[in-house]
Amino acid sequence: MRSFADSDGDGVGDLGGLRGRLGHLVDLGVDAVWLTPWYPSPMADGGYDVADYRGIDPRFGTLADADALLAEAHALGLRVVVDLVANHTSEQHPWFRAALAAGPGSPERERYFFRDGRADGEEPPNDWVSAFGGPAWTRVREADGRPGQWYLHLFAPEQPDLDWTHPGVGDDFDAILRFWLDRGIDGIRVDAAPAMAKVPGLPDAGHGPGASFESRTWVGNPHWDVEEVHDILRRWRRIGDSYDGDRVFVTEAVVNGPERLSRYVRPDEMHTSFNFDYLTCPWDAARLRSVIDASLAALAPVGAPATWVLSSHDETRHATRFGRADTSATTGAGAPADPGPADPALGLRRARAAALLTLALPGSAYVYQGEELGLPEVEDLPEELLQDPTWERSGHTVRGRDGCRVPLPWEGDRPPFGFTAPGVAPWLPQPAGWGPLTVAAQRADPGSTLNLYRSALRLRRRVTATAGNDLEWLDAGDGVLAFQRGRSFRCLVNLTASSRPLAGWGEVLLASAPCDDLLPPDTAVWVAAPG
Ligand code: NOJ
Repeated sequence: MRSFADSDGDGVGDLGGLRGRLGHLVDLGVDAVWLTPWYPSPMADGGYDVADYRGIDPRFGTLADADALLAEAHALGLRVVVDLVANHTSEQHPWFRAALAAGPGSPERERYFFRDGRADGEEPPNDWVSAFGGPAWTRVREADGRPGQWYLHLFAPEQPDLDWTHPGVGDDFDAILRFWLDRGIDGIRVDAAPAMAKVPGLPDAGHGPGASFESRTWVGNPHWDVEEVHDILRRWRRIGDSYDGDRVFVTEAVVNGPERLSRYVRPDEMHTSFNFDYLTCPWDAARLRSVIDASLAALAPVGAPATWVLSSHDETRHATRFGRADTSATTGAGAPADPGPADPALGLRRARAAALLTLALPGSAYVYQGEELGLPEVEDLPEELLQDPTWERSGHTVRGRDGCRVPLPWEGDRPPFGFTAPGVAPWLPQPAGWGPLTVAAQRADPGSTLNLYRSALRLRRRVTATAGNDLEWLDAGDGVLAFQRGRSFRCLVNLTASSRPLAGWGEVLLASAPCDDLLPPDTAVWVAAPG
């Protein structure tokens, strides 16, 4: 929301800006829009620190604006999915303010995890780590001014974790979910789902000194992917199912492999879950094929559709990461301080090929705003403007996620490129050279990345309507991914360094780069099989 479009000239994207630009989403050809948190928030973590679950942050607009957005989006055939952040609140939420004020032993503190420290109170209660670096505990000053208890925050200190064993927490979130479903949202994206339950007694996790938050490697961790998370998801699914229409729930669950992930999409839990194994996979044919196979195999027994995603507001934009020596995704507290240089032309070439691969796979695909323009990561934002808590928490060594959140360029040849009023500085500065990447410039260029996405999304509708969910791999040699769906739809992606013959594969419907009878390196095509 903050980076899409600004309507009131304060340099921050808002609901008015989104409403004014819904035409872009329709023209692009997407079915739905997922909005990151729009609630009142001090913005310590981009709105994932919620101070009031039943309101809209004034920077973004009002509840009336949200209602208008829902009505206008629905009239255009777009569905709207909103973010539900239920593992933690903002430290400014009245529940947390009351807990701080009420002091140790009070019922107010039972909504969160307040504990006495170890070593006479001087050390955190256990060894858990924060996703943004450092310990997951912060010590408070009690009413008498002295250092007192510690509270748990698996993310920033401004995001205290709720204790879901407190009955009031579940009841409140039932009501919050109903509040938004009653207003007409089409679904929720469940933030940090694996964090919502903790092993009783909060035992040490066995994290060594300086451990980072590598949740994809954790097994039996006491604060992540704990069984009771699924009780919460079932409870929400029951609420969703009690509403008319097809409300759809998607979880953010960065867990250890596709089998663990498939547990979040069992028939009575969420409908879908983001696929981080695919998102983080390097640009390598064998690795991609194995992730695709493992994802589909794990989902088959639970009957849930797959999802595919290449970028998000939390990850380095893939047009940049695919141009690096290490093409795996690297944002976050565990990211290297210097990910190495990127070749922008190579990155974009691969990003366009990856888009055709992603949009050809069975299931649903997510496009992160700006990837349809081939936007690169902005790697030279001035340090004093960085807002991601990772920057502070890493002692200014890891820059964090601001580089993928730079406001979109819509039109014109200089910042703010139509994002906000002329002369206004966007909340993060846009590169001066983004003129050729604007929506307006790319609409006029038949070979643009925007037009590649538009064509792909239109063709995809026709394919998905007839091709079913199966995928059959075809042999096109080492380093080339080739598969067929349905009677005739084929996708070929050349990840080798040399061109490969295209003859015999069928009629080319769409290509990520010019090709004649050869498929060049880092290029994908969609073809209709002969006959
Ligand atoms: C996942 C969100 O995508 C991310 O932006 C946020 O920082 C964390 N959850 C904490 O809410």
